[in-house]
Formats: sequence, C-alpha cells, structure tokens
Amino acid sequence: MNHLRIEKRGAVGIVTFSRPEALNALNLETLKELDALLDEIATDSTLGIVIFTGEGKAFIAGADIKEMSVLNAEEGRAFGVLGQRIFYKLERLDQVTIAAVNGFALGGGCELALACDLRYAGAKAKMGQPEVTLGITPGFSGSQRLPKLIGLARAKELIFTGKMIGAVEAEQMGLVNKVVDGDVLEYAIEVASTIERNAPLAVKYSKKAIDSGYGQTVNEGNVLEAGFFGLCFASEDQKEGMSAFINKQKPNFKGI
Ligand code: CAA
Repeated sequence: MNHLRIEKRGAVGIVTFSRPEALNALNLETLKELDALLDEIATDSTLGIVIFTGEGKAFIAGADIKEMSVLNAEEGRAFGVLGQRIFYKLERLDQVTIAAVNGFALGGGCELALACDLRYAGAKAKMGQPEVTLGITPGFSGSQRLPKLIGLARAKELIFTGKMIGAVEAEQMGLVNKVVDGDVLEYAIEVASTIERNAPLAVKYSKKAIDSGYGQTVNEGNVLEAGFFGLCFASEDQKEGMSAFINKQKPNFKGI
C-alpha cells in the first residue's frame, strides 16, 4: 500500500493514512487501498479494535479536490457511491473502530470519522464539512450520518456554513466523544486496551445489537438484543466472566 499502513499490537490494529504531502486527502488510489484493507480486517479474527489516524498535521483533509475537479456528473456520482460503499463497509466491521483525530478532519475525513464507533480529538483537531465552499454537497454519507449523530439543526449549520470547528466545539456538540490534551493516538490505544480486556464476543454482539437496533423502536430493538444476549450464554466467556466475579478473580477471556 502506498498511502495506508497498518500496525498490529495484539488485538489492536492501528491504520494510518499516510499521504502527508496532500494532508492525507483521499484520492482514488487511497480509497482502493482502504477498500482492500477493510476486506483484510473483516476476516482477521485476531483483531478486536481498529484505530484510524493520520500522519502529520492532518487526520484526512477530505476527498482529493484535484482529482475531483475534472469529474463530470456521472463520474461524480460514481465517486460518491464508491466512498459511501467503502465507509459503509468500515461502519459494518465486527471490530470496534476508533477515529483518533489528530488534525484536519474535513469533508471525507470528517465522514470517515463519522463511520467509526468512537471519535477522539487531539487539541489541534479541526473538523467540518466544507463541501459547499467547493460547490458540492457532502459525498461520503456526511449528509446522512452527521444529523443522526449531532442532530438536524447542528448538522445543517455545519454543512450549510462549511465552517471548520475546533476540538472543544466538536466535543460540545457530540461530534467527538472527548478532546484529549496529550497524544490522541495514545489515548485511543488506552481506550482500545480497556475494551480489549472485556469479553470479545460480548463486545462484538453489543456493537451488533446497537447498530442493528438503531433507528428501530425499542420494542423492535429488544428482539435483536434478546437474540444477542442469549447467544452470549452459549459462550465459554460468559461462564468465565461470571465465575470469575463470583470467585473474586480476574476473568481470562478467550473470545469463545
Ligand atoms: N485535496 C487535495 N489536496 C489537498 C486537500 C484536498 N482535500 N487538502 C489539502 N491538500 C493539499 C494542498 O493542495 C497542498 O498541496 P500543494 O502543496 O501541492 O499546494 C497541501 O495539501 C497542503 O495544504 P495547504 O497548503 O492548503 O495547507 P494549509 O495548512 O494552508 O491548509 C487546510 C490546510 C485548511 C486543511 C486546507 O488544505 C484545505 O482547506 N483543504 C481542503 C479541505 C476541504 O475542502 N476538504 C473537503 C474536500 S471535498 C470532500 O471531501 C467531498 C466529500 O464529501 C467526499
């Protein structure tokens, strides 16, 4: 891969966007690399958590404007559909995904963070959907995921003004879980370690229960939750977790 790399630390994968000369902007080549990498991650049962971050001063400064500048309507639509499909694949990973937003996360960069389960921002992070300043709408599902995350009015304000907001404002509006004073990647790794100590199947089923029930009524979601809750009782880790509690020991989860 030319613009992406993955480092594995036990069950934690750290994916770094590395195209610093263009502030890690997503050109077609990077998107294709991401698509293939997500396929690898999806079948890698040793990974429980995947962190996304950027090299240098940007997380991702958006889709590549130079490449997009020459697209016609049909090509523009196809480019949007490609990004949507890849980010949907990211969102649907079994693994917990974390965006460690180290710098600019604009347009497609903000949209990639939106497709993750958790978002943490470094103090220097700048986020936003500046597409209208370029004559386009958000294209990689920002118009869909942002309102669901931060509410309709706030999403419309960010998208219609195209303004960039800092980490503190992003935290205040719920765009990120937390602003981190120190190294945001180290913080994301700490969160990942906490998640890693828990029963892997229970974490995976919790993600599935939340995501598949989101947008449904509580009663509809309850049916899904009951299914996943029941499945946990077929796992060795449920026996391990509960007997460790009763015997006042630390559980030794195996992910089965
Ligand atoms: N696409 C292509 N190249 C980009 C880029 C992008 N999205 N963002 C930055 N770059 C390039 C610049 O062109 C520049 O390259 P050159 O040195 O060859 O000129 C290099 O990265 C460094 O950028 P700047 O000199 O502009 O750095 P800066 O610190 O002065 O400004 C910035 C940083 C405010 C992030 C500014 O680069 C910027 O506004 N970038 C564009 C952000 C943007 O509009 N993103 C949305 C894209 S549209 C989109 O993503 C659609 C979608 O929904 C899928």
